[in-house]
Amino acid sequence: MTSMSRSSDTYVRVQEVGVRDGLQNETKTVSTNVKVELIERLAEAGLPVVEAGAFVSPKWIPQMANSEDVFRHIRRKDGVSYPALVPNMRGLERAVAVGVTEVGIFIAASESFSKRNINCSIAESIERFRPVCAAAGAGEIKIQGYVSTVLGCPYEGDIDPGIVAELCGALHEMGCYRVSLGDTIGVGTPARAAALIDRVADSVPLPVIGIHFHDTYGQALANTLACLDRGVRTIDSSVSGLGGCPYAPGATGNLATEDLIYMLDGLGMNSGVDLDGVVAAGAFITDYLDRMPASRVAMVYAGKKAA
Ligand code: HMG
Ligand code: MG
Repeated sequence: MTSMSRSSDTYVRVQEVGVRDGLQNETKTVSTNVKVELIERLAEAGLPVVEAGAFVSPKWIPQMANSEDVFRHIRRKDGVSYPALVPNMRGLERAVAVGVTEVGIFIAASESFSKRNINCSIAESIERFRPVCAAAGAGEIKIQGYVSTVLGCPYEGDIDPGIVAELCGALHEMGCYRVSLGDTIGVGTPARAAALIDRVADSVPLPVIGIHFHDTYGQALANTLACLDRGVRTIDSSVSGLGGCPYAPGATGNLATEDLIYMLDGLGMNSGVDLDGVVAAGAFITDYLDRMPASRVAMVYAGKKAA
């Protein structure tokens, strides 16, 4: 491990996104009961943030159509945040109506991806989110801003880091307390990920930057380590590596939470997350979905259990 050059603090905030980013990509909608049990297990395992749904158009993402129901049923644990994605004012209103106190808004660094994912240009998306941020701020709802395709777009290829930095600056100015860099299709490699952090840190303070890496090319953990070394301390991951984006063909799930926690524990960094608890939550959902986990650590656990 290289030196923790820009930050000496060892606390890492791990944000679990499997229930939203993971389950949005399933062919069928997972029932409210199963989602609620998964969310509660993840919170019990010590995750401080468990993204629990998305108030997007059910025509576009039917898998998130039961988000109201999910929020009505979860038992919220003190100190845990349960954010939801919102694509517009209507999404924010739906979220607020079921007691959501933190939302994620999402834009892209590529025009083609923006058009496919939210059916508007990048500039239009910024204008669409301006009133959402103003209303959320007025209602004391916390806002994270996601920028997708930061290290590559399925339709346009390489993305200019300068554009990513500019968009992060705009989101921060609009009231996002954190901007999260989405490698939506998981094409990044460590040197490029680290260089992107350096570029974005010229636009927003380093503690504002989060990362959200998908693992399509098996680089998510290495990219994360490179960003930790740059001082990033907020990391999204998905239990069992569930996930993908319906508008990013071929992209796989996020960095697996189990693999991230194993690495952080090994580095002596503190996340407050219990690895056994996350592995158990992962086994619960992969059993339900009848599939092998994408997490290497979860596979080791499953092998030991079977032996
Ligand atoms: P649109 O079709 O351009 O706009 O959708 P619209 O306003 O004409 O709405 C179409 C229909 O949806 C209408 O219904 C609206 O009422 C309804 P109709 O009149 O046809 O019956 N509608 C809604 N319904 C419920 N809740 C709402 C809502 N808004 C409109 N909030 C829109 C535009 C943005 C709504 C649509 O494109 C959409 O919902 N997109 C969501 C896409 C999505 O969820 N993608 C995955 C999440 S992003 C992601 O995974 C990336 C991330 O993980 C980071 C990374 O990996 O990079 C965050
Ligand atoms: Mg994602």
